[in-house]
Amino acid sequence: MTRTVTDKFGRPIRDLRISVTDKCNFRCRYCMPKEIFGDDFEFMKREQLLSFDEIERLARIYAELGVKKLRLTGGEPLLRKDLYQLIERLNNIDGIEDIGLTTNGLLLKKHGKKLYDAGLRRINISLDAMDDELFGKINDRGIGTSRILEQIEYAISLGFQIKINMVVQKGLNEQEILPMARYFKNLPITLRFIEFMDVGNDNGWNFDKVVSKKEILDTLETEFDLEPLEPAYYGEVAKVYQHKDAKDSYLGFITSVSESFCSTCTRARLSSDGKFYGCLFAVDGFDIRTLIRDGIDDEELTNVLMGEWNQRDDRYSEIRTEISEETRKKRKKINMSYIGG
Ligand code: GTP
Ligand code: 5AD
Ligand code: SF4
Ligand code: SF4
Repeated sequence: MTRTVTDKFGRPIRDLRISVTDKCNFRCRYCMPKEIFGDDFEFMKREQLLSFDEIERLARIYAELGVKKLRLTGGEPLLRKDLYQLIERLNNIDGIEDIGLTTNGLLLKKHGKKLYDAGLRRINISLDAMDDELFGKINDRGIGTSRILEQIEYAISLGFQIKINMVVQKGLNEQEILPMARYFKNLPITLRFIEFMDVGNDNGWNFDKVVSKKEILDTLETEFDLEPLEPAYYGEVAKVYQHKDAKDSYLGFITSVSESFCSTCTRARLSSDGKFYGCLFAVDGFDIRTLIRDGIDDEELTNVLMGEWNQRDDRYSEIRTEISEETRKKRKKINMSYIGG
C-alpha cells in the first residue's frame, strides 16, 4: 500500500534519482574538470557501489512511501555493467509508473536496444552545442556533436522518447541556442535549456555565467513562434513551450537560478554508494548502505527512510540569493558526478 509521506514543508516524496556510478567517459568542465578528475582520481570501487539487489530493495521501499518516478543517473549510467538488468527489475516494482535515464548518449548505440527491451522508454541526453569543435572542448574529450547526433537518431528509431539537455553558459555556448533549436525542431523531441547552476565546488560558477530563461526565450523568439504549455504534472521541473508550426517538437527551460522550483520539489536522491540526499545542493548525505549491509530489516528500513524524508527542509535554490557569497563559497556541496543532477 502506498502512503503519503511529506517533509517539513509538506512536500510529498514522488521521485527517486539513483546514481549508478560516479565514473564518466566525458570531462565536462562544469562537472568533472580534468585537473580534479584526472588519471589519478580515485573513483569508487565495485564493492562500494550499491548492488542491483540493494537498489531494487530501496526502490521497492521508496515506492511504498509514494515514489512513482525513478531516474537513473551517474556520472555516466551507461558505464554501469548490465544496466538493462536493473531496468528490468525496477520495471517490475508495484507503484513505479515511470523510469528515465539521464546520459551523455555516447554509448546508446551499444546499449540502447537492450535497455528498450528491458522496458526503458525515456532518455534525457546532455548536448551543449551543435558546433563540433566547441562541443569537443566542453566535454574535454574531443567528442564531436555528430557522434552524439548519430546516437540520438538511433535511439529515436528504437522508439525512445527523448529530451535533450543543454546547459547554457554565458560567454561559452549562448551562440548555440538558435542552431540547437533549429536542428531539434525537425525531430519529435523536447530540447531543454538549463540555467547553469552552482552544483559542487569545482565548476567555476558565478551569477555572471548564468543565462536566464528570459534571455534564452528572447533569443528564441527572434526566430520561432512559441506558445507556453501548462505543467504536465505537479512539480514538473521544466517550463515547456511548443512550436506553433511543429507540434511534435517542444522547448523547455529549467530555471533553477532565476525561478526556483523548490516549493514543489518531490525528489529524493541516492548516490552510487548508497547515501540519501534531500537536495542537489546538500552538504551531507545519510548513509543507508551501512544499515543495509548491517542487516536492517524492511520494516525498520522503511521507518528510517520515512524519517529522513520527514526531516527534510532543503530549499537551496530559494535561498541562494539570500546567503552571502562568502557563505555560499564555503558551503561544501556534493559533486554533480556523485549525485547525478
Ligand atoms: P524529467 O523526468 O524528464 O522531467 O527529468 P528531469 O528534468 O527531472 O531530469 P534530468 O536528469 O534530465 O535533469 C535536467 C536538469 O534539471 C539537470 O540540470 C538537473 O540537474 C536539473 N534538476 C533536476 N532535478 C532538479 C532539482 O530538484 N533541483 C534542481 N535545482 N535542479 C534539478
Ligand atoms: N548546471 C546545470 N546543469 C548541469 N548539468 C551538469 N552540470 C550542471 C550545472 N552546473 C546537467 C547535465 C545533465 C544533467 C544531469 O545535469 O548537462 O544533462
Ligand atoms: Fe559526465 Fe554528465 Fe558530468 Fe559531463 S555533465 S562530465 S557527461 S556526468
Ligand atoms: Fe529540490 Fe534542492 Fe533543487 Fe530546490 S534546490 S528544487 S530543494 S533539489
